[in-house]
Amino acid sequence: MELRFFPITLFRQTPKVTFFDAGIDTSNASDVVIHSGEAISPPDDLQNEQYYVHYHQIDHNLVIKGERIFVLINPSWDEPHHVIYLNRSMGALEIPIGTYHRSISGKEGSIVLNQPKRDKFFDSAKEFIPQKLEKISLVKARNSNPVFWIYENNQIKRFLFNPLEKKIKTPCLK
Ligand SMILES: [Fe+2]
Repeated sequence: MELRFFPITLFRQTPKVTFFDAGIDTSNASDVVIHSGEAISPPDDLQNEQYYVHYHQIDHNLVIKGERIFVLINPSWDEPHHVIYLNRSMGALEIPIGTYHRSISGKEGSIVLNQPKRDKFFDSAKEFIPQKLEKISLVKARNSNPVFWIYENNQIKRFLFNPLEKKIKTPCLK
């Protein structure tokens, strides 16, 4: 499964100024999600990881500031579990319809600009309801070995193991 990343167009970068075009041609909305310190979107409930899943929106998530780990679960994919260490240089991560997803910030927090493509049936009251992974196919996908996406040497690289494993562990669901 190849994920899609939409690159930004960098106009100017100096030690104190970064200026870039973040536009996504197909997008028809701009959402900002700010994590002020350690945070998860959507947050866990008392016992379970929770995820968003969209039916009328394709996400394009760009990190504006900091770093954000995205977890994607989609049982219909040949590789159903992905962990992306997303930063601005990687561009905007596309999250297709029907993909369960959550994002995690470390202590520094992070700012993400999501430029989704919404269709005419989009209803904000229905698109942003946190979900547990209840179906067996989802739990199996979550427990499968993830594909890791990491920015290294100015390239987006995918790994079948976690090169950062010593720093972060993803526990198994029971
Ligand atoms: Fe989303």
